[in-house]
Amino acid sequence: MSPPPLASSDLCGKSQMHPGIGSPIPSILLLLALSSTPSSSSESYYRYADCASHTYSCGGTKINISYPFRVDGRADYCGYPGYYVSCSKNNTSMTIEIDGKGYVLKDIDYLNHLITVVDPPFVNQSCPQPYQNTSLDFSMYSYSDRDKNVTVFVNCTALSPPIPEVHDMGCAPGGRHGFYQLTDENHIEMFENCSSMVVVPMHQAAANEIRYGKRSFSDAVKGGFSLRWEAGKGWCRDCVESGGHCGFDVLSPENHTCFCPHNSTLGTCPPNKGARLETSAWV
Ligand SMILES: *[C@@H]1O[C@H](CO)[C@@H](O)[C@H](O)[C@H]1NC(C)=O
Ligand SMILES: *[C@@H]1O[C@H](CO)[C@@H](O)[C@H](O)[C@H]1NC(C)=O
Ligand SMILES: *[C@@H]1O[C@H](CO)[C@@H](O)[C@H](O)[C@H]1NC(C)=O
Ligand SMILES: *[C@@H]1O[C@H](CO)[C@@H](O)[C@H](O)[C@H]1NC(C)=O
Ligand SMILES: *[C@@H]1O[C@H](CO)[C@@H](O)[C@H](O)[C@H]1NC(C)=O
Ligand SMILES: *[C@@H]1O[C@H](CO)[C@@H](O)[C@H](O)[C@H]1NC(C)=O
Ligand SMILES: *[C@@H]1O[C@H](CO)[C@@H](O)[C@H](O)[C@H]1NC(C)=O
Ligand SMILES: *[C@@H]1O[C@H](CO)[C@@H](O)[C@H](O)[C@H]1NC(C)=O
Ligand SMILES: *[C@@H]1O[C@H](CO)[C@@H](O)[C@H](O)[C@H]1NC(C)=O
Ligand SMILES: *[C@@H]1O[C@H](CO)[C@@H](O)[C@H](O)[C@H]1NC(C)=O
Repeated sequence: MSPPPLASSDLCGKSQMHPGIGSPIPSILLLLALSSTPSSSSESYYRYADCASHTYSCGGTKINISYPFRVDGRADYCGYPGYYVSCSKNNTSMTIEIDGKGYVLKDIDYLNHLITVVDPPFVNQSCPQPYQNTSLDFSMYSYSDRDKNVTVFVNCTALSPPIPEVHDMGCAPGGRHGFYQLTDENHIEMFENCSSMVVVPMHQAAANEIRYGKRSFSDAVKGGFSLRWEAGKGWCRDCVESGGHCGFDVLSPENHTCFCPHNSTLGTCPPNKGARLETSAWV
């Protein structure tokens, strides 16, 4: 939580509090000072501990949070800016903001760099009525190849005659219909009788279930879609596999900051020589 300058002034504070040898307290202080003797590494050690994966709960969802994601109360250096996870004000759903819009976060797959998110209008509606396209900040996320784009027409009058690939959602709030299309043809005639067209990503598997009649459209969109995140791409896994926790250094944001048990490095943690260092500190 404390930025580097604070942490080091904290260390200085400790040594200044070292008044003399006579009083009974100094022996404890001396011990404290000794235990933090590998001074260049002690700060990084705390960062390693601070940034361990931890379970975050909200609205019945539990997700392990680690780099690049961060929640309130966790140190800035544990996440990459912008990958901020929070709990909705009424504690009902875990949320993440993507390109200025809030999504419900369902899952984080660290192995494949994928998050699963749901557009909030879909979460609790039996009749989905999306009015906005999904948009991404491509420096942070990209679409995943596990998804399929489904074209949705909302606020429409009934179709006559029906178009074979264009399916009625089967609900018509206020007498206005919604239609979806799993194929790619352009049906410009739909614009006549609908007020908007929106592209909705969903899992490819869910789209197949709709196609084979195993699942309704509204149920399928509740499953959300997956996005691949960009931060840590190409190096974070190596850091983790070497025993470290990926991190962020505000002074060099693009560096491959890896917090190791005893120090911070770039890239990967060195083979374990922590034990030797610790012994020498006590000699
Ligand atoms: C979350 O982390 C805990 C402790 O590291 C682990 O036991 C658990 O399996 C993890 N859960 C998931 C869903 O990855
Ligand atoms: C949400 O949860 C937090 C922490 O448990 C609690 O302090 C807060 O009052 C809750 N808010 C609501 C609206 O229930
Ligand atoms: C919780 O708040 C969200 C908006 O933040 C709202 O969409 C949802 O309906 C609320 N849920 C309940 C149960 O109040
Ligand atoms: C969805 O609705 C259920 C019951 O109506 C409610 O308990 C839940 O909090 C709602 N979820 C959201 C995200 O609004
Ligand atoms: C879905 O559409 C977006 C643009 O709206 C595109 O970038 C993305 O590649 C498409 N996804 C698939 C699986 O076709
Ligand atoms: C739905 O369509 C009607 C008729 O075109 C229009 O008056 C209304 O504003 C539309 N509603 C929305 C939410 O776009
Ligand atoms: C649009 O609505 C009008 C009047 O309800 C109807 O005659 C027409 O066939 C509809 N267009 C399509 C493409 O369904
Ligand atoms: C969504 O994107 C499509 C193009 O992919 C566009 O034709 C449509 O007008 C957009 N819809 C809205 C509501 O912006
Ligand atoms: C960031 O990485 C570059 C290249 O490896 C290195 O020269 C630079 O010193 C690093 N910056 C910091 C603050 O570690
Ligand atoms: C910790 O790393 C810094 C540079 O990243 C290095 O200068 C320092 O010697 C290292 N300390 C230990 C105890 O390895």
